[in-house]
Amino acid sequence: MKRLEGVSLALGVGGGIAAYKAVELMRRLIDEGATVTPILTANSLNFVGLTTFRALGSNEPITSLFNGDSPIPHTKIGQGVDAVVVAPATADILSKFAVGSCDDALSTILVSTDAKVILAAAMHKEMWAHPAVVENVATIRRRGFVVIDPEHGILAGGDVGFGRLAATEVVIDSVVAEVGSKDLAGKSVVVTIGGTREAIDPVRFIGNRSSGKQGFAIVSALLDRGASVVAVSTVELQVESPRLEVVRVESALEMDGATRRSCEDADALIMCAAVADYRVETPWNSKFKRGSGNVPELKLVENPDILAGVVSESKKFSRKFITVGFAAETDDVEKNGRLKIAKKGCDILVVNDVSKEETRFGSADNEVVILFADGSSRFVPLAPKRAIAIEVVNALAERL
Ligand code: PMT
Repeated sequence: MKRLEGVSLALGVGGGIAAYKAVELMRRLIDEGATVTPILTANSLNFVGLTTFRALGSNEPITSLFNGDSPIPHTKIGQGVDAVVVAPATADILSKFAVGSCDDALSTILVSTDAKVILAAAMHKEMWAHPAVVENVATIRRRGFVVIDPEHGILAGGDVGFGRLAATEVVIDSVVAEVGSKDLAGKSVVVTIGGTREAIDPVRFIGNRSSGKQGFAIVSALLDRGASVVAVSTVELQVESPRLEVVRVESALEMDGATRRSCEDADALIMCAAVADYRVETPWNSKFKRGSGNVPELKLVENPDILAGVVSESKKFSRKFITVGFAAETDDVEKNGRLKIAKKGCDILVVNDVSKEETRFGSADNEVVILFADGSSRFVPLAPKRAIAIEVVNALAERL
């Protein structure tokens, strides 16, 4: 499903060097299903060509309030769109919007709309740090509009600092969060995240290299689609939402208890955590001391299979409940995945090859095969974990 299907956007482009990135942003917003009307400031046309926006935009670009067919383009656009996105939002655009100044098409549209406003700031580092800009951004945010901070990196002229337009994905994710499809509104999903830690003594544990990145990306994708999420996590999450409850756990036994409890009221479970299959039967109560010949022998016992346990319990639920597992494989990836989906009994299994450098635990990217209980499958080629998460959530949403 396209995340911005049926969404109408005005894309304002300010006069800064990052204006060239607005072309790619516009194309990607349209790929996501949005209808995009470009609003170009006079200064932006010093950096990018009108023809490019005419060729790629969904509608004819607007460059002035007075040279088009409509005598009132600002109210027509302002009332007709779901959001006005400005990228790059220069110091000048932020300043005008903070005081409500209307002296060209973009500034007038920004003040003539009740739609969401998302401004992706980009300017030179000294400008971003200037007290006037800092206060303008604070004013705009206080009024409930979204300002996306610029990123750190190389700026025009070779300077380095905060000022680069945020990555296209970041801007798109922000648009999706504000006006994207909320097809999972009213649904509650439990997501397990990170690697469990099985205590050896108070300071040592048996663990694994899961960073929580894939699970975190799934939580973000679910929140974007309107779902409520319970994250049962061994790692801290960098996201806040009134629809997100975080339950911090450490061991497999803690994760088992928290996951089972959370699933009682949920519509789905996505088991992304890397759970230790074994734990130390009796961890030492105090730190194990090194001494000659004093080598500890760890007796391991099996941990519960959380996913298989929830699958079995959910058979008793009177409502529909979808279970999604992950499989971390290193050889015969798809074949082992098919054996695992049968063994665990879940509805969907996302199989990833964690032996490859680019898709190992902790990596930024992943490549997966999504297996369904009916034997069908879907391959998702190498992509950032957020893109993989969107495909996993799509698969879940189809089943829900
Ligand atoms: O966190 P990242 O660094 O981003 O890495 C992501 C990831 C590689 C950890 C993730 O994509 C992933 O593959 N997670 C599942 C890891 C795993 O434990 O796979 P498994 O094949 O051992 O287990 C199969 C399924 O059973 C998993 O859904 C697992 O959560 C679940 N399980 C496993 C053991 C157990 N005792 N209880 C379980 O519920």
